[in-house]
Amino acid sequence: MPSATTKRAVKTNGKPGPKHNIDAVREAYYERISKFDMAPLWKVMKDVVTKEPVTRCVPAIWHYDDVKALVLESGGLISAEEAQRRVLILENPALRGESRATNTLFAGIQMILPGEIAPAHRHVSSAIRFVLDGEGAYTAVEGEKAFMSPGDFVITANWAPHDHGNPSKKPMLWLDVLDFPAVNFFEASFAAYFGDKMQNTTRQDGDSLAFYGSGVLPDGAPVQLNRSPVINYTYARTRPVVDRLKKAGDIDKSHGARVRYANPINGGPVLPTMGACLALFPKGFKGEKYRATDGTIFVCTEGGGVTKVEDKVLEWGPNDVFVVPPWKRYSHHPHKESVLFSISDRPAQEALGIWREDKNPS
Ligand SMILES: [Fe+2]
Repeated sequence: MPSATTKRAVKTNGKPGPKHNIDAVREAYYERISKFDMAPLWKVMKDVVTKEPVTRCVPAIWHYDDVKALVLESGGLISAEEAQRRVLILENPALRGESRATNTLFAGIQMILPGEIAPAHRHVSSAIRFVLDGEGAYTAVEGEKAFMSPGDFVITANWAPHDHGNPSKKPMLWLDVLDFPAVNFFEASFAAYFGDKMQNTTRQDGDSLAFYGSGVLPDGAPVQLNRSPVINYTYARTRPVVDRLKKAGDIDKSHGARVRYANPINGGPVLPTMGACLALFPKGFKGEKYRATDGTIFVCTEGGGVTKVEDKVLEWGPNDVFVVPPWKRYSHHPHKESVLFSISDRPAQEALGIWREDKNPS
């Protein structure tokens, strides 16, 4: 007797079919529905609704000695103005050609030479800039000219006009992290370029940090704002805080003495799509394993050590940038007192209700 399925398939087909070969009947059916741009979910169910996160990213590290030499070389090839932004992309080795370090985040190293200007523009993608090298270049954002120093963390939020300039005598290099892979996933990107290379600045360096990051708010400050009004979170202000945390004994077993950069209006992340942390690891710290669904980009600002990601060991030193993919077990093991800055898409995942962590992965 043919099975009920075969009977149905044969009947639906309208003509006699191979009663004993259900596979052939099914394949013929799949081919037929394919012509109508339809496909059977049951064939791909396990791949599209996975039991656990599946990532295409791999752990990766870019050592600053290599990166700096290569980026400096680009200075002789193209000007900042011609390039709009002279940036070398840090591409995840498993995602080459896709301009991304993780599935949702772009990372790149930008350089601006003495006397150069990277002209004003704006875009829907938000950016985090983490200063690696140099002193005295600026990012002008929404009318504030923020002069940058190593370890400073500058944000340019969605649609905020911004330009960069370097009136100093040395090249300045920083890590750019943008959310455009996520924005492009939604196919929601816009960008605009201005006739003037530089925007008019009406606020002094440090104004936004003083106005919003001092335990007070300007009278009339917005009650709700989904991105921080602070342009530049300086290393000079934040670094002593993690030292105080360490001295107070507030040291997480996986993350060390860590602070999260906050939007002073609502205590939330600095940007709705990306968040950042600064963590101090005392000498002798042996991190416990941890995993979460946000892929994370780390930068070493001080010290040196290794981060174990599953069976891969990433050895880092100052200004090295490395990536931990989503849901991979990792642990930090500094060789000496060390500081790591990190950026991830956790705020976006939390807003969507999909972020998860595992504090004790086996
Ligand atoms: Fe930009």
